[in-house]
Amino acid sequence: MQTQKMLRTHTCGELTATHNSQSATLAGWVHTRRDHGGVHFIHIRDRFGMTQVVFEPSHDQTAYELADNLRREWVIQITGIVRMRSSDQVNQKLSTGEIELVAHSLKILNKSDVPPFTLDEWSEPTESVRFKYRYLDLRRAEMQRNFQIRHKAAQAARAHLSEEGFLEIETPMLVRSTPEGARDFLVPSRLNPGTCYSLPQSPQLYKQLLMVSGMDRYFQIARCMRDEDLRSDRQPEFTQIDIEASFITEEFIYGLVERLMQRIFRDAIGFEIAAPFARLTFAHAMEKYGCDKPDLRYGLELADVTDIVKESDFTVFKSVVAKGGMVKCINPEGTLTKGDLETYIEFAKQNGAQGMAWMKVTEAGLESNIVKYFSPDIQKRLIERTGAKPGSTLMYIADRPKVVNEVLSRLRADLARKLNLINTKVFSFAWVTDFPLFEYDEKEKRIGAAHHIFTMPKAEHIDLLETDPLKVLAQCYDLVLNGIEIASGSIRIHDPEIQKRVMKVIGVTAEQAEKRFGFLLEAFRYGAPPHGGIAPGFDRIVALMSGYNDIREVIAFPKTASGTSLLDGCPTPAEAEQLRELHMKFVVQ
Ligand code: AMO
Repeated sequence: MQTQKMLRTHTCGELTATHNSQSATLAGWVHTRRDHGGVHFIHIRDRFGMTQVVFEPSHDQTAYELADNLRREWVIQITGIVRMRSSDQVNQKLSTGEIELVAHSLKILNKSDVPPFTLDEWSEPTESVRFKYRYLDLRRAEMQRNFQIRHKAAQAARAHLSEEGFLEIETPMLVRSTPEGARDFLVPSRLNPGTCYSLPQSPQLYKQLLMVSGMDRYFQIARCMRDEDLRSDRQPEFTQIDIEASFITEEFIYGLVERLMQRIFRDAIGFEIAAPFARLTFAHAMEKYGCDKPDLRYGLELADVTDIVKESDFTVFKSVVAKGGMVKCINPEGTLTKGDLETYIEFAKQNGAQGMAWMKVTEAGLESNIVKYFSPDIQKRLIERTGAKPGSTLMYIADRPKVVNEVLSRLRADLARKLNLINTKVFSFAWVTDFPLFEYDEKEKRIGAAHHIFTMPKAEHIDLLETDPLKVLAQCYDLVLNGIEIASGSIRIHDPEIQKRVMKVIGVTAEQAEKRFGFLLEAFRYGAPPHGGIAPGFDRIVALMSGYNDIREVIAFPKTASGTSLLDGCPTPAEAEQLRELHMKFVVQ
């Protein structure tokens, strides 16, 4: 590393036996201080590592006396001579562990208040303290490692996409509303009283316009802003590796993203990912796992037993089936006590089911207080259908398909954790394909777009648009990693006629379409090439790569679950003067 014209000659992670007897100047933070037999030992720390510094009165009395005052997190500059440590003093954990720096000069560059938590590996500050003092939290070795991974991942993505012919192009942050399905953050315009910009939920419309512009292959490490309910993998501001390309098919995207993921994982954490990734259709994912982002690190597949149990005498199941519902079950192997089953019944209820029925599988057949309602033949068919082995438990949910799938997919994840079925060392990627183009919104009682309204229907389903829209499948794909959706995309509609037909299905009139996306529809009249794209969620990828589910561990300045920043206190009330300039009045209801 270039250190000329700096306050140091080396970083705190650089000095080794090869520097023995040389003079060196280090600058950094006081990590720890120990006094030992009339000698002060300091660990000096920077982003690159830690070095032990020794202050001996025999070596330099002034520096020794000054070092007596040093406290944690003071910023110092030290010059000294590198000396080998005796073999019993070597610290294998440090890259500099073979040597120490014998100080003959110490300069205090800055003092520090006593930090609210210590920055060593044993410290476990609470979340609110970490967020309030994020700049200190980021000094911790774990966080420094996370941001090195993030940096390498971003560089790898840039390099890889550039090598594959993609141009990095920035799109505006002050935009007209984008249709990603969350609420927009609005920015009032001072120059145009009574109007607002939106912050982009994604660069979706702009990247499509860039295809009309003939840019052919675009990418951007793009910030996206969405006003939605937050959880561990959702922040109001997040980053996507946004990608769009012309004249492509779905297969092009699969290959591109697989190579991109391989490059990112290799460069950022040295991990080789096997490709091609597994693929499963949406219908298959729902049937076997109850959700569209299955964690494939473990089995625990669901079995639909509706057709079998409807012939039983168990009225609970029969009445659900009679009302058009379904019965599915999961059959974990492993010890589940009565108490565990009680807990899972509660869990099922809390997640929206009426209850949960269960049967133990033994060498002699099925056992529980409900098996009497199931004839020997039905019991045999249940064992066959589920492939259950003696020692497993059949756990059934009977309800509307939506409830059955939701509850069982959560139960599946919970059982995997409890029964220790998750191999945390693997990265399990899977493409989920063939999503429906539309979904029925039960609350609003209307059909809406499942992804976004520019998604192309499968060619063979276009004719169903008017006759059976809920059967239309889309040229749309998600990438799932360890049960988390890490990317989503589609081939887009480039034909204004098909676009009109899709909008009609979801009840967007020509006038509404014109008002909201008129500029895009107009652009499409000037020779839009067939195109498509995808947007891998960068924060989620970096978090999973670094061993976390919570993306805040890899975002420098994240918001809390209620969307606030504990660091700077935003959001804050607007100043009266600002509002006046914006021609606005706040009425808090
Ligand atoms: P989508 O809305 O599915 O698609 O987002 C793509 C990916 O971005 C990540 N993501 C988030 N990460 C953190 N916090 C959030 N609030 C958040 N929301 C989404 C997820 C998700 O898979 N324009 C389309 C993409 C396209 O069609 O090309 C889009 O934004 O990993």
